[in-house]
Amino acid sequence: MQLATCIEDLRQMHRRRVPRMFYDYVDSGSWSEATYHANEDDFARLKFRQKVAVDVSGRSTQMPMLGQMLPMPVALAPTGFAGMQYADGEILAAKAAADFGVPFTLSTLAICSIEDVAEATDTPFWFQLYVMRDRDFVRRLIARAKAAKCSALMLTLDLQLMGQRHKDIKNGLSAPPRLTMGNIINMMTKPAWCMNMLTTKRREFRNIVGHVEGVDDMRSLASWTADQFDTTLNWDDVAAIRKAWDGAFIIKGILDVEDAKAAANIGVDAVVVSNHGGRQLDGTSSTIAMLPQIVDAIGKTTDVWLDSGIRSGQDVLRAVALGAKGTLIGRAYLYGLGAGGGAGVTKALELIHKELDTTLGLCGEKNLAKVGADILLS
Ligand SMILES: Cc1cc2nc3c(=O)[nH]c(=O)nc-3n(C[C@H](O)[C@H](O)[C@H](O)COP(=O)(O)O)c2cc1C
Repeated sequence: MQLATCIEDLRQMHRRRVPRMFYDYVDSGSWSEATYHANEDDFARLKFRQKVAVDVSGRSTQMPMLGQMLPMPVALAPTGFAGMQYADGEILAAKAAADFGVPFTLSTLAICSIEDVAEATDTPFWFQLYVMRDRDFVRRLIARAKAAKCSALMLTLDLQLMGQRHKDIKNGLSAPPRLTMGNIINMMTKPAWCMNMLTTKRREFRNIVGHVEGVDDMRSLASWTADQFDTTLNWDDVAAIRKAWDGAFIIKGILDVEDAKAAANIGVDAVVVSNHGGRQLDGTSSTIAMLPQIVDAIGKTTDVWLDSGIRSGQDVLRAVALGAKGTLIGRAYLYGLGAGGGAGVTKALELIHKELDTTLGLCGEKNLAKVGADILLS
């Protein structure tokens, strides 16, 4: 772990340690993966302006998200199945984030439940909500997040239909893993992962199993979730959910200026410009390409954050330069988690922080909160 010098190193370590089905789940996008790759490529196209002979001592990468000052404007994005990358993965990631001083978001489709994470950590975390057809379940989830003292609700709007990821279908992705001959053979080549998974009882979607009538095993869970994403979801529903939550409220999955305005009108604390890391609508724009228009449209009244494609501190700096007041990272921390549990997540955060700080200085800037588009070459 200590030898890793960049997120790509963590990705390679993750790939070696974790069974193919779970690694592929992280490292893939929908259909042709064009948007998945565009997210990263469009970041790389943004070039910095090198500045020299400027006093850049005493730099600060601090910025607030939801009013809380952070060492850097980066939160851990909600991700499903994190507890299959490493035993109790969500708990480990939440603890690593808390120690580093950045927020952690727990997914509806996490392996560890809201209660598991709340019990294991003292620092409040954010909860991400998917809207299911079973609105009673949604109400109960919101109540559970409140009871666990989650400090923000993040509503994801870009997954009412599942974008097809070829690898997940071919691998027969499930939690716990289905014991086909192919999966068994592959798991036998990952002894460290197998031994580690034997140390926990948490190997299924614990926000759901045991909380929905009739969903108590793998088979009933699979058919329940497949049928549950609510394709009727509309802005009235979003407004109603906003009303039901009296804390900080974030909408995630916005890639269009009109949608951004609709989200801002509902009264949100932040909007996340996101295409789900290129896992949903393939063939759409990268998020960094859409960011300036959305900041222009709502940035004066609403905090605009960005995710999808961030693999370095340099990418965080690029996003902030173009107006993002915060960022989320998904794969960048999952690679660390898969590579080495909590220590891997810490490593990912350290790498991103160091890159961000050094690049800030090499651009001749001291204060991240004050950078603008002029640090980029036009
Ligand atoms: C493996 C994986 C699982 C994800 N699961 C969820 C989820 O359960 N809920 C959600 O809102 N977003 C989910 N996302 C999307 C992330 O929250 C985030 O938008 C995305 O990872 C950002 O792109 P990046 O991975 O390039 O940083 C997932 C992403 C990945 C990679």
